[in-house]
Amino acid sequence: MKNNIIWQPQPKQAIFQSRKEYEVLYGGAAGGGKSDALITEALRQVHRPNYRALILRKTVPQLREIIDRSQQIYGPAFPKAVYKSVEHVWIFESGAKIYFGSMNHISDRFKYQGSRFEYIAFDELTHFTAEEYFYMFSRNRPGDKDMQIYIRASANPGGIGHSWVKARFIDPAPPLSPIISNVDVMHEGKVQTLQRSRVFVPSTVFDNEALMKNAPMYVASLAMLPEAEKQALLYGDWNSFQGQVFKEFRDNKAGYSNGINSHVIDEISFPANLPVYRGFDFGYTRPYAVGWFIVDENGTIYMANELYGGDGGKNIGNKNSPVEIAAQIREIEKSSPILKNRQIIGVADPSIFDESRGESIARMMEYSPNFIYFTKGDNTRLAGKMQVHNRLKFNKEGRAGLYFFKNCKNMIRTLPNLVYSNSRVEDVDTEGEDHLYDVLRYVLMQKPLANFIKTRDTKPLLPLELM
Ligand SMILES: Nc1ncnc2c1ncn2[C@@H]1O[C@H](COP(=O)(O)OP(=O)(O)O)[C@@H](O)[C@H]1O
Ligand SMILES: [Mg+2]
Repeated sequence: MKNNIIWQPQPKQAIFQSRKEYEVLYGGAAGGGKSDALITEALRQVHRPNYRALILRKTVPQLREIIDRSQQIYGPAFPKAVYKSVEHVWIFESGAKIYFGSMNHISDRFKYQGSRFEYIAFDELTHFTAEEYFYMFSRNRPGDKDMQIYIRASANPGGIGHSWVKARFIDPAPPLSPIISNVDVMHEGKVQTLQRSRVFVPSTVFDNEALMKNAPMYVASLAMLPEAEKQALLYGDWNSFQGQVFKEFRDNKAGYSNGINSHVIDEISFPANLPVYRGFDFGYTRPYAVGWFIVDENGTIYMANELYGGDGGKNIGNKNSPVEIAAQIREIEKSSPILKNRQIIGVADPSIFDESRGESIARMMEYSPNFIYFTKGDNTRLAGKMQVHNRLKFNKEGRAGLYFFKNCKNMIRTLPNLVYSNSRVEDVDTEGEDHLYDVLRYVLMQKPLANFIKTRDTKPLLPLELM
């Protein structure tokens, strides 16, 4: 009998395939049998004529790999099924279809507009943006009323989606513990609260006996990777990944009270004569971000407060107008004990001064009753990035040149999650949640702060060494 078995789940894959949550993320390390688990899970409802499944990879070449694997499994298991290579679809005897698709660009999602799928799987979810992932939820509808609908995904740490995937599946609960979120829906004047559940099922190469047996050297290859990548891909450590830009960032509770070896600290107070630098990055469909900074007598910079206009984790803005944002800034500056009655110097994304399409965003924020003023920030990207690196560096005593009060939650969450761009390899990938990072750059590139650095260090800061 055993010879008739084409594929059977290994123990971790069996756990993944038996979860009842609406969304399940599987893996978190290389070689754990993630793609196999997603491909075989797609078969669950293929006896139903109306069943439609979709398995996504970010790019077409990556898709090739899983299509090849589907041929090894679906072919012998369903001899009457045919694969149509032009449309990338398997058609089963019942009429059920399993599609393979890519989503290289955000506009690719419109390929799926008007389609519905009972099963949607994202292979390597950290290659996708949150927008792409959540858009596909709208395509997850049943063709017949008793069909199961659900979303499955696999992922490794790292990549453009690292931050939101970690925030959605890894941070809220330990592995295998369901995370429940409520969604309020208005219907006929009444609010109905619906529940959605999700869970993370971890696996590493050590859970993949087939691979350990057939390719024992694969483990050795993972062990030989640079440390950060090895921790991520071999052991599934989500705090360490290849491509992370600010690896030196530390959020260390033991240092909250004295700032030793931690960039995150408890709030402290400052003399009343010190001004505040207010940095601003405008966003509408993406979050907007404001950060307030104070430079102490020694030239150390402290981020005291933040305003983040969007859905943290999803990178979706809350579409406030410039006037609404200005009103919120004014309110915070009037009421925050640490900010009120100080001189405030505004510095912003230079693009908000653009008047080519009518009144500029900067102008709209200046009007009564808000009176929020900015000067143009220096948007020289690599120099700004080096300023951040230089500031984050700890000296021999474990003191840094830049600290964040622990209430600056979005800055603390997003700064360590930024990754390098694939196209401009020295720079931060702007597809990520980089809004508070941009704020930080504009503020650090301000002349007064640069002057402070010069008086503090005997060596001039330039030329910058690239890391
Ligand atoms: N249940 C299984 N039975 C046999 N081989 C498996 C099984 N699961 C995974 N494999 C094999 O292990 C290797 C790695 O699995 P894969 O799913 O590609 O891992 P990942 O996507 O996590 O990197 C592949 O060659 C795959 O075919
Ligand atoms: Mg894979």
